[in-house]
Amino acid sequence: MLKLIIPPEEIRIIVDRLANEIRRDYSSKNPVLVGVLKGSFVFMADLVRALEIPVEVDFICATRYGTNERPTKEAKVIKDISTDVRGRDVIVFEDIIDEGKTMKALLEHLNAKHPASIKVCTLLLRDKKTGLDVNVDYLGTTVDEGFVVGYGLDFRERYRHLPGLYIIEEEGGS
Ligand code: IMP
Ligand code: MG
Repeated sequence: MLKLIIPPEEIRIIVDRLANEIRRDYSSKNPVLVGVLKGSFVFMADLVRALEIPVEVDFICATRYGTNERPTKEAKVIKDISTDVRGRDVIVFEDIIDEGKTMKALLEHLNAKHPASIKVCTLLLRDKKTGLDVNVDYLGTTVDEGFVVGYGLDFRERYRHLPGLYIIEEEGGS
């Protein structure tokens, strides 16, 4: 069963606010926006249109999940960007940061390409009290426990198309 946690109208407000913050910081910089596949594709599509400043877009894909769907300790880059980001201002876009391991690995990987600067924008951040060793520069909103789907986020490749954000809930009792 899916429980709606953030409706499309609320997502639009969050995306517009993030776009305003980023526009303020990057209006004369022509940044390279790097979306983390696959989950960020819907977020990126809305964000670049709300930004209204010239940007370049690329995508990267990392996974902590092997074929057995058990998270591995370290995230692995399985599709790299093709843009030369040396000396460029890079902003990485993620759908959700949970333990931060994926973002940490991606930042190490991208930093090795010597960008002028690199910042992180995430639509969602898991609201945990434990120390996250990734700095989030632009934050959409926090979410509690529960697996989130919709607006690009999937559970086993399902639900990415939903316009709102939902939590998967166990069927009560049966
Ligand atoms: P982390 O390395 O623990 O931060 O895991 C983050 C990665 O797992 C991201 O790439 C997310 O797309 C994915 N992920 C974590 N939690 C969820 C969720 O609730 N729904 C969908 N994907 C998630
Ligand atoms: Mg992801």
